[in-house]
Amino acid sequence: MNGITLFGKRFVPYIPQAELEQDIDRVARRMNADFAGGEDVPVLLCVLNGSILFTGELMKRLDFNLELMTIKLSSYQGTASTGNIREITGISGNVKGRRVIIVEDIVDTGNTIVYLRKKLMDEGASDITICTMLLKPDVYRQELKLDYVAREIPNKFVLGFGLDFNELGRNLKELYVLAE
Ligand code: IMP
Repeated sequence: MNGITLFGKRFVPYIPQAELEQDIDRVARRMNADFAGGEDVPVLLCVLNGSILFTGELMKRLDFNLELMTIKLSSYQGTASTGNIREITGISGNVKGRRVIIVEDIVDTGNTIVYLRKKLMDEGASDITICTMLLKPDVYRQELKLDYVAREIPNKFVLGFGLDFNELGRNLKELYVLAE
């Protein structure tokens, strides 16, 4: 089977690009229905770097007016969460009084979205919804409800479609998984 090796670890193809795009289609249809006809302009908050590709694919499919903002957070080192969230760059705009849709690549322990939700509340966002491309339900132990989940995956380290291993692999078009 064709795969790739990064820093001595082997990754094998896992979810093809077409399947991920179908998942994104489904999530976008739901969001379009939920946000249709709103009088405000919601903020789509791309959590860099991982959700850059997902945000792009999602955005193309959303048909309501929105404003794109970014924030850069980091918590992973290698293939494990450190539990310690670092804010590399703050939110690129003012969210006070705005409805914010958080766009994440993957929710694992959920520490990142809990941190981000609190930050958005502190900054005065009027409403917060969470949209993630991937969720590892076996690891996620937070009370916080995830509004839009494109796909659930088992507790395995994945790579590609924006997700990295030590900053490499984000440009892979399909999703790869760490070989056993
Ligand atoms: P959490 O705070 O534990 O939910 O982790 C969220 C962040 O960890 C994601 O935004 C990713 O950057 C990173 N992450 C979690 N699982 C993976 C994975 O399987 N591959 C690559 N990055 C991951």
